[in-house]
Amino acid sequence: MIRKAVIPAAGLGTRFLPATKSMPKEMLPIIDKPIIQFVVEEAIASGIDDIIIITGRGKRAIEDYFDTSPELENHLVKNEKYELLREIKNIASLAEIHYIRQKEPNGLGDAVLKAEKHIGAEPFAVLLGDDIIKAKVPCIKQLMTLFDEYNQHAVIAVEEVSAEKISDYGILKGREIADSIYRVEDIIEKPSLDEAPSNIGAVGRYILTPKIFECIRKTGQGKGNEIQLTDAIRLLKSEEAVYGYVFEGTRYDAGDKAGYVKAIIDFALERSDLKEETGRYLQKIVAGLPHSVKIT
Ligand code: G1P
Repeated sequence: MIRKAVIPAAGLGTRFLPATKSMPKEMLPIIDKPIIQFVVEEAIASGIDDIIIITGRGKRAIEDYFDTSPELENHLVKNEKYELLREIKNIASLAEIHYIRQKEPNGLGDAVLKAEKHIGAEPFAVLLGDDIIKAKVPCIKQLMTLFDEYNQHAVIAVEEVSAEKISDYGILKGREIADSIYRVEDIIEKPSLDEAPSNIGAVGRYILTPKIFECIRKTGQGKGNEIQLTDAIRLLKSEEAVYGYVFEGTRYDAGDKAGYVKAIIDFALERSDLKEETGRYLQKIVAGLPHSVKIT
C-alpha cells in the first residue's frame, strides 16, 4: 500500500523569472489555486495522507499556505465571508504535510533522497509540481493500481511527446507488454532528438520502491550537473522491473509558459463562474474580432 508521497519543490523556477524571483514557482496560481495545491489534492484523492514537500531557500510561502492563518480567518469571520473561510480552513487541514529542506539545488534525484528517512523501507509516490493532471481517476492512483498488479514494482507515468519537446523529458526505451504498459529497458534524461530511443516521455508521476534511494546514492552528476532521478531509475531497472504506463487523462505542463497559459484557459472554461465570459472572449479572438472591446 502506498501511504506516502514526496513532492519536490526546491527548484529555482528560472523559467518563470522574474515572477519567481521572490515567490516559489509552485505558488503560481491557475486562476485562484496555486499549482502545488492541485498536486497535493491529487495525492489525497488517491488515498495518500502523509506528504513530504522538499523545499529550499525562498519557499516559505508554501509552508504558510498549508498552515492555519488566524488573522485572515478572523477577518473573514468579521466580514461574514463564510464560504471563503471554509475554503481557507480546508486548505490547512488537507493532509499531514512535512517539510524537508534541500540545502543546495542538486537535482531531482537528490531532492527525493532527502525524503529517505521519512519514507523508510516502503514504496512511495513522487509527484512533480510542474505537471497538473486532470483525470477521472487521479493519475497517481492509476499508477498505484498498476503497482499492485505488477508485483509491486516501480511504475512511472508516460505519454507521447512531440519531437521538439523530447529534450525536455526523461525518454523511455520500452517494450510494450500490454495495452498502454511498457517494461522499461532504458530511460535517458533529456536526450537530443538523435539520441532519443523513442518519443515516450516520463511525466512527473512515479511510484518507486525504496531501493531507489540506494540507486540515487550510486548516481553521479548527470544532465545539468545535477543528480537526476531518471539516472537512478536507470540503475533501478537493472535490479528490478520498472514499468511505464500511458496514463488516462490530460496533462498540463505548468512548468512551461505555454502549458501554463493552456491550463488557465482550460480550467476557466470548466468553471461555472468563468466559462461563459472566457468562452465568448475566446470566440471573439478566433473570429478575428477586436477583443479589446467590452464583452457583454
Ligand atoms: C523532470 C524530470 C524529467 C521528466 C520531467 C517531467 O524534469 O527530470 O525526467 O520527464 O520532470 O515533467 P524537469 O521538468 O523538472 O526539468
